[in-house]
Amino acid sequence: MTTDRTTHGSADPAPGVAPTAGAEPDELRRRALDALVRARSRTAHLTDSVDDDDLVAQHSPLMSPLVWDLAHIGNQEEQWLLRTVGGREALRPDIDSVYDAFEHPRATRPSLPLLPPAEARGYAAEVRDRVLDVLAATPLEGAGRLADASFAFGMIAQHEQQHDETMLITHQLRKGPAALTAPAPPAAADAAALPSEVLVPGGPFTMGTSTEPWALDNERPAHQRDIAPFHLDVTPVTCGAYLAFVEDGGYRDPRWWAPDGYEQIQRHHIGAPLFWRREGDQWLRRRFGVLGPVATDEPVLHVSWYEADAYARWAGRRLPTEAEWEKAARHDPATGRSRRFPWGDADPTPDRANLGQRHLGPAPAGAYPAGASPLGVGQLIGDVWEWTASDFLPHPGFTAFPYREYSEVFFGPGHKVLRGGSFAVDPVACRGTFRNWDLPVRRQIFAGFRTARDA
Ligand code: AVJ
Ligand code: FE
Repeated sequence: MTTDRTTHGSADPAPGVAPTAGAEPDELRRRALDALVRARSRTAHLTDSVDDDDLVAQHSPLMSPLVWDLAHIGNQEEQWLLRTVGGREALRPDIDSVYDAFEHPRATRPSLPLLPPAEARGYAAEVRDRVLDVLAATPLEGAGRLADASFAFGMIAQHEQQHDETMLITHQLRKGPAALTAPAPPAAADAAALPSEVLVPGGPFTMGTSTEPWALDNERPAHQRDIAPFHLDVTPVTCGAYLAFVEDGGYRDPRWWAPDGYEQIQRHHIGAPLFWRREGDQWLRRRFGVLGPVATDEPVLHVSWYEADAYARWAGRRLPTEAEWEKAARHDPATGRSRRFPWGDADPTPDRANLGQRHLGPAPAGAYPAGASPLGVGQLIGDVWEWTASDFLPHPGFTAFPYREYSEVFFGPGHKVLRGGSFAVDPVACRGTFRNWDLPVRRQIFAGFRTARDA
């Protein structure tokens, strides 16, 4: 495996990230431990790289203070692993309500009686200490069943990593000098040699999973979908392509926009992706405290679903549906089966995808040829989350597990699905079946898109 040091000092992922169906108890325990340790190393990096004032400040009304995320991570771990799986006595039942995401919207969290930084760190560490005892004492199975205790450990490692991505978004919104650094991502292989789109043949494929042990409730169960043939971009839409839309007056022409989206850009005077600004005849963007030129070969980042949808219409194209995206990412035309990832069933490695916050941005379009799908679609996993045309809805046969508030309460037309993961997603929280969702107006998330058209 390629050696790769991360910015947050964790070692190479051990061979394997998440267990696969039928894994033995020892392997499940090793992977659970590895995933928990890796998540905590990243959490420490994100919270130790700023001072206490920064940790308790609210950098944007869209986000929690970092110190809320830190203790919320500990509190979720206490509730699910210590109390539910371990059957141990509660450590801090008095703070459950403060760290309940449903009781308190993000904008109101700074006014809560939050644990101060040192206490929040101590609390998360104390929970973890006890959880490692629980892990050593709990029988695990690899049957891929949601009720298996292994799932709870995988779920909590993914939960922490998802909040680490949220905290990285807070870092991006934070004013002031850079607190984080990382090496630049790899260059593109030979982008000029790539076709712009491929034909994905029509026909049925298996969407979702019933066997991936750590797949979350909304990814289940596996089921058949029949897809009409369509063409799909081989890379995410680049800043250069998006700039043509901007400079063509795309933001001022209601023909391209869903009515709600046009209303939003007018009300907030939006005329370019978030964090972009024009100086003279140059476009600049601010990324983690550093101002630099917009790189035309990089996937566009920080656009809303409305912006993605408008660009696609301007280009005479459309966003892919979620099912089209998953077919392009998983269907193997040679065997007819659905893979775990575009490149096959093996876990992500640094040469296949830009994941895990190894870099602080997406790689240029055409990077990671080793991560392409059988049809040659690249960068489906990692780099930027990709908006799809689809509302967040349950797969047929869905059952909420272990709590309705993870997925079920978000189903419906208000949320659009994003797929594939960004540079800020850890491999443990990324699969060909993994589903993310957000409001169509959101722009602070690490989201871009690619486009499609009917065949
Ligand atoms: C799946 C990213 C939309 O952050 O709201 C974290 C993940 N759920 N804690 C979110 C989540 C509970 C969730 N997203
Ligand atoms: Fe959470």
